[in-house]
Amino acid sequence: MKSIVIYSSRTGNTKQVAEAIVEVLPEGTACVPVNEAPADLTAYDVVFMGFWADQGNADKAAQTVLKRLDNEQVALFATLGVPPMLPHAKDTMVAATALLPKGQTPVGTFMCQGKVDPKVIEMMYKIFPEGHPHGRSSERDERHRQGASHPDATDLAKAAAFAKEVLAKLG
Ligand SMILES: Cc1cc2nc3c(=O)[nH]c(=O)nc-3n(C[C@H](O)[C@H](O)[C@H](O)COP(=O)(O)O)c2cc1C
Repeated sequence: MKSIVIYSSRTGNTKQVAEAIVEVLPEGTACVPVNEAPADLTAYDVVFMGFWADQGNADKAAQTVLKRLDNEQVALFATLGVPPMLPHAKDTMVAATALLPKGQTPVGTFMCQGKVDPKVIEMMYKIFPEGHPHGRSSERDERHRQGASHPDATDLAKAAAFAKEVLAKLG
């Protein structure tokens, strides 16, 4: 079973998750940033593809790989600003999955919260007025405060368990 981990990460959250995943895959499994993704992925039985959420979908760099990922077995993972049980998280994974060129159902998916770049938070608060869904509010502030510690050790342990489950499923 030959696998590869490809990830897109702007501020390091998704990279951390990718590294937790590759740690439990067979020794020597490649773990590469999206700009180093091999042009030809046919040699891999399963591709673990990671992205960060950008406007309710996979980020643009990850999208270019997702759109050409025609392997039968694909496992998707992501980090995002909101807790993974929220509908927005699920919708984001659905949107990213819809980019797969053969309509594949991923063999597994994993999401966890990832701290949002403080510069981006500041910028959003400047652009959007208080009261706007993206503007400053006590709820938003609290979410960012709570998100600041993610991905944490529990998230990374869950990511590793996800990768093991995928391998077990594929035998
Ligand atoms: C431009 C931009 C857009 C984002 N859009 C979303 C979004 O739609 N939904 C969400 O939950 N998080 C969103 N986030 C938060 C990131 O997905 C989150 O912080 C992620 O963990 C960043 O991963 P990275 O450190 O691997 O780059 C956005 C962040 C940025 C910078």
